[in-house]
Amino acid sequence: MIYDLIVIGGGPAGYLAAERAGHGGLSVLLVEKRFIGGVCLNEGCIPSKALLYSAKILDYAKEGQKYGVKAENVVFDHSAAVARKNKVVKTLTAGIKSQLKNAGVTVVEGFGEIMGRNHEGFEVKVNDQVFTGQRLLIATGSAPVVPPVAGVKEGLDRGFVLTNREILDIKSVPSSLVVIGGGVIGLEMASYFNSAGSKVTVIEMLDHIAGNTDREISGILMKNYKKKGVEFRLNSRVVEIGDGFVAYESDGVRNEIPAEKMLMSVGRKPVVDGLGLERIGVETENGRIKVDDIGRTNVPGVYAAGDVNGVSMLAHTAYREAEVCVSHMLGKDDHMRYDTIPYVIYTNPEVAGVGETEETAARKNIDFKVIKLSMRYSGRYLAENEGGDGICKLIIDKANNRLIGAHMIGNYSSEIIYGAGMMIETGMEIDDIKKLVFPHPTVCEILREGIFQV
Ligand code: FAD
Ligand code: NAI
Repeated sequence: MIYDLIVIGGGPAGYLAAERAGHGGLSVLLVEKRFIGGVCLNEGCIPSKALLYSAKILDYAKEGQKYGVKAENVVFDHSAAVARKNKVVKTLTAGIKSQLKNAGVTVVEGFGEIMGRNHEGFEVKVNDQVFTGQRLLIATGSAPVVPPVAGVKEGLDRGFVLTNREILDIKSVPSSLVVIGGGVIGLEMASYFNSAGSKVTVIEMLDHIAGNTDREISGILMKNYKKKGVEFRLNSRVVEIGDGFVAYESDGVRNEIPAEKMLMSVGRKPVVDGLGLERIGVETENGRIKVDDIGRTNVPGVYAAGDVNGVSMLAHTAYREAEVCVSHMLGKDDHMRYDTIPYVIYTNPEVAGVGETEETAARKNIDFKVIKLSMRYSGRYLAENEGGDGICKLIIDKANNRLIGAHMIGNYSSEIIYGAGMMIETGMEIDDIKKLVFPHPTVCEILREGIFQV
């Protein structure tokens, strides 16, 4: 049989593309070498959020006194948190498998390798069988970057150095944890292990944490975590990983931190090794597959979606990219818009944002103004966040009186931010946003408060 589409990789990009294409009437083969659901469901978004929720409940219990609740002898059971996380993952992955079945997708387990093309389509070898597909969608995702620091290989072999895969299944809470990289994974894991009782130190080579997040917001986040006992070593680079210690250099001075475990979270790289891209001439750039705004590679009929194209390594981007690719396969007009993709850091407090920051707007020479307000303008935020220091920043394009960016720190930001994204995506003018009714009291009213200050 010749498939209309072969999808390599069963993560968010791959499984969603397969499902949409199946429902769209295409015959689809999905190849997955490990677990359906990919990194996101098995060793990324979902397991980390399940664990972080357990930690949040613990934080609330410990802080109960602020709200008139005295909980004594609060005990954290990490194994129970991990077991619950596994249950959540199992339920979700089972759901995906059944959705694929309903869409008529054939799933085959094994490593997919592109062997070439013949007059009928592209040939993909899985185990010892070769399948042919008229179109290919490459959705092989990403893997952690492991820099060539002295001692890293031995550290990985000994189980001292962990990546996201191992740390999410760690059997017990280490007494001390050094996190290399103060980006999203580093901060979320620092948050969990700090709550769970580890002594956490984050080593970050830049002078700030949280990457491209608004600087004032990342500063507030760092202040919150310093208060909780997390230590940060900024402008610092790891130079050696030893037996139970990590050495880093800062201002040319070498320092050592003893640790029971170390997390390597310095970024991720697209997975393309052994795929056989060269056999059909798919172009790559710095290890990522090059695509246009429809997800097309340079080879007609071959698409790439999700982390493997290296544009925006987020699950919701992967979903949308997959949809755009399939729309194109089905003859529908669709394309990617990357300027309105929200980001969230699931720390406690949460950070979320969408669109331009002050820094990016200035770089683009946009004539903008910033509305900055405390999250305490929201009655519900005040009621539920004793001592909270969250802020919300709105970036307004003065030329057309439109919202072009929204960034916030404070809980529920993750659930609110899509609203701001929608206002930006649809190009709503400030006067139209003012007419929207927000439920009261909610934290999302902060957007309304901010808009009325424009
Ligand atoms: P992946 O999920 O990586 O899936 C690719 C799949 O392809 C894998 O299952 C792999 O086994 C398979 N594969 C690879 N090569 C082959 C081959 N040759 N043959 C067959 N199969 C193959 N994003 C968010 O938006 N929100 C979050 O909260 C979030 N949290 C995260 C937390 C962690 C700890 C990590 C590591 C990532 C997180 N991410 C989050 C990022 C998110 O997981 C990725 O953006 C998302 O998984 C990308 O989806 P994908 O389908 O491109 O790739
Ligand atoms: P990241 O790119 O977010 O952060 C890596 C950090 O490590 C950066 O701050 C960088 O400056 C620093 N760094 C790099 N090399 C270093 C070195 N040698 N020493 C010290 N610091 C160094 O990457 P991370 O955290 O690994 O996450 C990968 C990707 O996974 C993210 O970019 C994101 O796309 C996705 N993700 C998304 C989440 C979410 O949406 N909530 C959660 C977790 C991951």
